[in-house]
Amino acid sequence: MYVCLCKGITDSQIKDAVFGGASNLREVRKQLGVMSQCGKCGIMTKQIVEDALSTDTVEEQQNLFYAAN
Ligand code: FES
Repeated sequence: MYVCLCKGITDSQIKDAVFGGASNLREVRKQLGVMSQCGKCGIMTKQIVEDALSTDTVEEQQNLFYAAN
């Protein structure tokens, strides 16, 4: 699902960024460009990043990733 319409960023891309090593919202923003124009995607992006960071195991991360795709 598209989260950031300005940049065409999806929830899967945000999760991938976290699972790939981005450890906070700032790093995700820097990596993807999300929240860099109108900012309307900020709340949803923050929630997705927090959810992805709160998953403890690789298996949980994979389940979250595949559920979104
Ligand atoms: Fe993400 Fe506008 S929707 S910056």
